[in-house]
Amino acid sequence: MEEHLPLPLLELARQISTRAAGRDERAYLVGGAVRDLLLGSPNLDLDLVIEGDAVHLAQELAEAGQADLLAHHRFGTATLRCGDHTLDVATARKETYAHPGALPEVTPGTIRDDLARRDFSINAMAVSLSPHDHGELIDLYGGRTDLEQRLVRVLHPGSFRDDATRILRGVRYEQRLGFELEAQTSGLLRRDLHMLDTISGDRIRHELELILNEREPEHAIQRLSDLGVLTRIGLAVEGEGEIAEVFRKARRMAEPEQLPALYLCLLIYSRTMQQLEALISRLNMPTRPSRAMRDTLRLKNSLGLLDRPSPRPSEVYDLLKEYDTPAVQANAIAWETLPAHGSLDLFLTNLRHVRPSLDGEDLKRLGIPPGPEMGAILRALHRAKLDGEVVTEADEERLALSLRAADDAAKTEPQKE
Ligand code: CTP
Repeated sequence: MEEHLPLPLLELARQISTRAAGRDERAYLVGGAVRDLLLGSPNLDLDLVIEGDAVHLAQELAEAGQADLLAHHRFGTATLRCGDHTLDVATARKETYAHPGALPEVTPGTIRDDLARRDFSINAMAVSLSPHDHGELIDLYGGRTDLEQRLVRVLHPGSFRDDATRILRGVRYEQRLGFELEAQTSGLLRRDLHMLDTISGDRIRHELELILNEREPEHAIQRLSDLGVLTRIGLAVEGEGEIAEVFRKARRMAEPEQLPALYLCLLIYSRTMQQLEALISRLNMPTRPSRAMRDTLRLKNSLGLLDRPSPRPSEVYDLLKEYDTPAVQANAIAWETLPAHGSLDLFLTNLRHVRPSLDGEDLKRLGIPPGPEMGAILRALHRAKLDGEVVTEADEERLALSLRAADDAAKTEPQKE
């Protein structure tokens, strides 16, 4: 721990464990942080479990000015901040499931209870932070051996039935770490695929988002597809190996924070609008990603309009400006070999950033009053700039004044019978 964790976090963990010991309670580092420490890849997302009252402990620490208490919740969990770092503390808990897919009933428990409720052996280890056995590894399910053998293994045969989101989680860890689902685990996962139907849309979507935030999510997506998981949640994807290629292209095209939205648009590209609507409703998709996905299919269906040689840039702009950026990007990736691709690419790299140099204030300075006429002139300037008919600010001024003059002339011209 001392080798891999920053000093302020270590110090905070030490203060928590000392205070816990003073109250005859025990503190442990658990879950992903232990897994990653043993793998030698630092993970600054620390989770501590307290055999005792975690919220009380966190409040004490905050009152003593040793950390800020950011939040505390039901189930005895609290988040502490110290400088740039945050740390979650939770009361050790025991979980029982009223029925498969239900949220668990939670009661306080021991560290053994807390580890027993976890998803995989590699995530079910703890390190004691108590002064008398500081640093001791608690590994009740062979997690360390599984790390060495590179296996993702559930703790018991009912694991996926208790919580089918573990199906998505297992594949995420398998692919992120370059591990393999252990043989029996893989059999249980296939057996329990139908249990995904018992999971709420929000929970499945959350796991999907975690996957799409991985560095190279195509591996997990391909694996989920091969295992039949995607079909089960209404997201069947077509084309062996294609996902990897289009996801790699996505990474070259979009900023990291926009990637998950773009990946989603690529995943639904071969769906019908009806299938997409079913998916949106199954996963209870929020408005933004739903709009991007709908736009993707709407644009795909209108792209024929651009599939011709050299449309005017302003026409391209007018057609594409209505669509969410990830939708345009997804179509640009999918249409790479077709003539429309040139227009999509031009829009993404250039046209969508083009604005006239003059704004309303500049036009007022030129003697053009605000109103519908000014709006029309601004639109004409924008179109002319897109089409390369004006380049400099002086070009724009000339065009604005000539449009104004033409407009005045039209107004004063006697009406023809
Ligand atoms: N956990 C679980 N079942 C779930 C979700 C979480 O057993 N459905 C447990 C696992 O022990 C996991 C810990 O809670 O290690 C913390 O969960 P989370 O923060 O989601 O994952 P990390 O292990 O921290 O892994 P990472 O953030 O690297 O994905």
